[in-house]
Amino acid sequence: MAQLFTPYTLRGMRARNRVVIPPMQQSTGVDGMATDWHLAHLARFAMGGAGIVFVESTAVEARGRNTHGDIGLWNDDQIAPLARIADALRRDGAVPAIQLGHTGRKAGMQKWWHGHGPLTEADAARGEAPWKAVGPSALPVGPGWPTPNEPDTGQVEALVRSWGDAARRAREAGFEALEVHGAHGYLIHQFLSPIANQRTDRFGLHRMRFALDVAEAVRREWPDDKPLFWRVSLADVADGGLEFEEMVDLLRSLKDRGVDVVDCSSGGGISSYPTQGKSVSNSLTFRAELAGRLREATGLQVMGVGLVIDPQTAEGYLQAREADLIAVGREALYNPNWPVHAEVALGANQDYATWPQQYRMYLVRRAAAADALRNTDMTRSTA
Ligand SMILES: Cc1cc2nc3c(=O)[nH]c(=O)nc-3n(C[C@H](O)[C@H](O)[C@H](O)COP(=O)(O)O)c2cc1C
Repeated sequence: MAQLFTPYTLRGMRARNRVVIPPMQQSTGVDGMATDWHLAHLARFAMGGAGIVFVESTAVEARGRNTHGDIGLWNDDQIAPLARIADALRRDGAVPAIQLGHTGRKAGMQKWWHGHGPLTEADAARGEAPWKAVGPSALPVGPGWPTPNEPDTGQVEALVRSWGDAARRAREAGFEALEVHGAHGYLIHQFLSPIANQRTDRFGLHRMRFALDVAEAVRREWPDDKPLFWRVSLADVADGGLEFEEMVDLLRSLKDRGVDVVDCSSGGGISSYPTQGKSVSNSLTFRAELAGRLREATGLQVMGVGLVIDPQTAEGYLQAREADLIAVGREALYNPNWPVHAEVALGANQDYATWPQQYRMYLVRRAAAADALRNTDMTRSTA
């Protein structure tokens, strides 16, 4: 049987298969609130058969938003629309999951469709004025980028607390898995980087301190029976971030603090965006071996992600023990039914048993009718 379609259990979570929809920002929130777009967009993946569906990066602080359209969990009013989404995902058979994030010095960007550069006063005319970002040090992402505020030690501690508070709200919204966004050159990644973090207090002398404190703050609020994921940028080697051995050290310490899964991403480097002219492939193909080594060195479960397009390739990563879960992002935007189609392609489900029950009978009849039509067409063409 295809491993991709074997159930997956971790702590008290049970997913029907190992296909994960990774967090994908829609830049469509209103005042940090999720909307009906988010509900429809995410529920569609659950209907398409995914095992776990992640809500996009959800800001732990208003100033940590990437764009004005980011959603957040920095206040209690933001819980209700997300609870509705968690319920819908559960109803349609997927594990409801959410990523928490803070973009640090990369905050305050234009939405993709407005250019995705730093917000300027010109954007204020659209109601999207720039705001002051925060970073580990007062160092901009790159030339032309605004300089972030450098918080004092007490303010960094408050930042850590905001992660715990958001985790509490994610729990109250009913999510069953949570991911900390520690990648893509965002706040946690910035604290880890010698380029972005030049502090002289304990958050600079020990650059892993912030990440470890966040893990503790989140785990305090995140129940023991629910798994905790952590996203890293595995392409760091080329980007002035963590070397492989440092990554192993970090992940072992995170595991001691209750992290269960490392989500091996790439792209979006420490410096400007995109990664200072460096071409870092975001295909898992180029990182799968590294992900497998991380898995072995840390004992963490691994989620692989990056241009997974065909089901056989996804299955191959699992068979090679390079990953335990496979995330499918853009391919699922292209085809939200990717999981149920992949199941057929891998021979695991030929009878529509895992499709929504509302569709099943009609799809069985459609298949029979299509077969009959094909036979008629063949008879006509050979007549
Ligand atoms: C529209 C879009 C939005 C994204 N937003 C996020 C996000 O909120 N958090 C994150 O960690 N990655 C984000 N990503 C990256 C994806 O989670 C994923 O890692 C990446 O797209 C590579 O996987 P794929 O090749 O299967 O799409 C986003 C990607 C896309 C296409």
